[in-house]
Amino acid sequence: MASAASDAVIEMVGVTKVYGSGRGRVDALRGVDLTIRRGEVVAIIGQSGSGKTTLLQLAGAIDVPTSGTVAVAGRDLGAMRERDLTDLRRAVVGFVFQQFNLIPTLTAFQNVEAAAIGQRDAAMRARRVEDLLGEVGLADRMHHRPAELSGGEQQRVAIARALVNDPEIILADEPTGNLDTETGREVLSLLTGVAGSGNRTLVLITHDDRISAVAERVIAIRDGRIEG
Ligand SMILES: Nc1ncnc2c1ncn2[C@@H]1O[C@H](COP(=O)(O)OP(=O)(O)O)[C@@H](O)[C@H]1O
Ligand SMILES: [Mg+2]
Repeated sequence: MASAASDAVIEMVGVTKVYGSGRGRVDALRGVDLTIRRGEVVAIIGQSGSGKTTLLQLAGAIDVPTSGTVAVAGRDLGAMRERDLTDLRRAVVGFVFQQFNLIPTLTAFQNVEAAAIGQRDAAMRARRVEDLLGEVGLADRMHHRPAELSGGEQQRVAIARALVNDPEIILADEPTGNLDTETGREVLSLLTGVAGSGNRTLVLITHDDRISAVAERVIAIRDGRIEG
C-alpha cells in the first residue's frame, strides 16, 4: 500500500496567480493548498471569475503559478523548462473543454490521431484511435468532421482525444456547459465512466449540480480561494 503522500497526483501549496499589473492586476488565485490523489473524481465549483479555469490550467501544466508550488505527477512545475512542461502536459494530462476545441478541417478520427504521441506504428495508432472512438460510441461517425457532428458527439470525440495517450489525469473545464440537459447527462456519465476509471484521476469544473453529485469530492472556490 502506497503512502498517502505518494498518492498525490496534483499537489498545490500556497499557490497564487496574478494576471496583469498595476490597474489591470487580477489576483485570480490567492493562496490555494490542494492535494488530489490518484484515482479521485473531483468536482470544482464556483461562480464565474472565481478562478476555476486558472486552477485547472495550473493543474494541467498549461501555466505556472505566480508564487507557491504546483507538482503534477510528482514533478515540480516551477523547476521545469518550457519544453519539459509541454512533454509532461502531453504525456500525463488529457483536457476536455466546454467548446470542444476540435480542429474543424479534420475528421473525428484525425482529431484523435493528431493528439497521439509516442506511437510510431501507423496501424497500431489507427487501431487505438478506432478503439477509443468505439468506446465513446462513435464507431459509425469516425470520418465525420466536427460540423457534421452534434455537440454531444463532438464532446465524445474530445473525450477520445483526451484519452489517446492514456493520461494519468483528465481535466475537464465545464464539459457539459454547451450541451442540453440530456446530452450533458450522457457525456457526464461517459466521462466519469471511461475517464475516471481505474487509477485515472478526473477533475471537472462545473456549474452543474448533477456533476457534483457523482464526484467523490467537491471543491468550492470563491474569489481565488478554496472554501471550507
Ligand atoms: N489571461 C488572463 N489575463 C487576465 N486576466 C485573466 C486571465 N485569465 C483569467 N483572468 C481573470 O482571472 C479571474 C479568474 O478567471 P478564471 O480562472 O477564468 O475564472 P473561472 O473559470 O472561475 O470563471 C477572472 O477575474 C478573470 O477575468
Ligand atoms: Mg472558467
